[in-house]
Amino acid sequence: MDTYILGIESSCDETAAAVVRNGREVLSNSINTQIDLHKVYGGVVPEIASRKHIENIDVVIDAALEEAGKRLDEIDAIAVTYGPGLVGALLVGVSEAKALAYAAQKPLVPVHHIKGHIMANFIAHPELEPPFVCLVASGGHSHIVEVRDYTVFHVLGRTRDDAAGEAFDKIARVLGLGYPGGPLIDRLAKEGDPEAVRFPRVRMDQDSLDFSFSGVKTAVINYLHKAEQQGAAVRKADIAASFQRAVTDVLCAHTVEAAQKCGLKTITLAGGVAANSELRRRMAEEAGKWGMDVLFPPPVLCTDNAAMIACAGYYAYMAGETADLRLNAVPSLPL
Ligand code: KG4
Ligand code: ZN
Repeated sequence: MDTYILGIESSCDETAAAVVRNGREVLSNSINTQIDLHKVYGGVVPEIASRKHIENIDVVIDAALEEAGKRLDEIDAIAVTYGPGLVGALLVGVSEAKALAYAAQKPLVPVHHIKGHIMANFIAHPELEPPFVCLVASGGHSHIVEVRDYTVFHVLGRTRDDAAGEAFDKIARVLGLGYPGGPLIDRLAKEGDPEAVRFPRVRMDQDSLDFSFSGVKTAVINYLHKAEQQGAAVRKADIAASFQRAVTDVLCAHTVEAAQKCGLKTITLAGGVAANSELRRRMAEEAGKWGMDVLFPPPVLCTDNAAMIACAGYYAYMAGETADLRLNAVPSLPL
């Protein structure tokens, strides 16, 4: 018998709902992004995000059910992101999911946002099975995770300061490119020389797979200030390409090392930064040297969406991980 999960996501600036069959088959993936609203502020404004989620949540859920050709009573369980994220934003999705679960008498499945990002790979690659190593890099997180089973995750490394996407967004801002910065740097870097400036590649200590991106961020900002003081010309495309090279070098080196340590031959990418073309290309190149395969989802499943939440929800539901109506949003939920 088929199992249908309604997924709901509202942790940051996307209001999203999706219906997924048997964990991997996406019947609908409705996303309302608020990026244009937050652009003028150069980042997400939490109060605006919460208000827009409230306005849009019923719209995206109705659209997801309609596109899937399903009524709420034909859904087996309702999966919702309950953390990590912005508390006011998360609360909209969690409250909505609880209301629907209560009204329709359906099981409620709490989903960790980062686990959702990882699960996007199961949707994109029907043949993929655990175990594998996943690099999850987004605006709020950068983790290397050993995916031991569909619901068993082990963190091998994490950022000690900024997330990779946060660094992309900050450098795009100082270069005057706009928000969100990742796609803009990705595009501009194609016209630049990645070897123009050698920005630092930080290694916390020899045994650790953790990241630190605040150093490279500061190095770029200092470089630009110095050039400005000296009246030296700066080619923005070269800075974008050199910065991107420094960040992707570290992401690739640590992830490949993680796979070696675990004796695994498959690496997957997830999260908004996984949409980066240089990261995809270089990860495949570096991992290829060790006979490892690299898989990543299409860009629409890398950035925030609810299909990934429904996929994670399916496996959690199958493992009996449901919650009652006391479920609350947990802004700093650990992995
Ligand atoms: O996963 P996501 O949509 O939201 C979070 O959970 O944070 O990730 C958004 C982040 C932003 O920082 C954005 O700049 C970055 O992903 N991003 C990229 C690219 N596309 C999105 N970073 C680098 N290259 C890209 N092509
Ligand atoms: Zn995300």
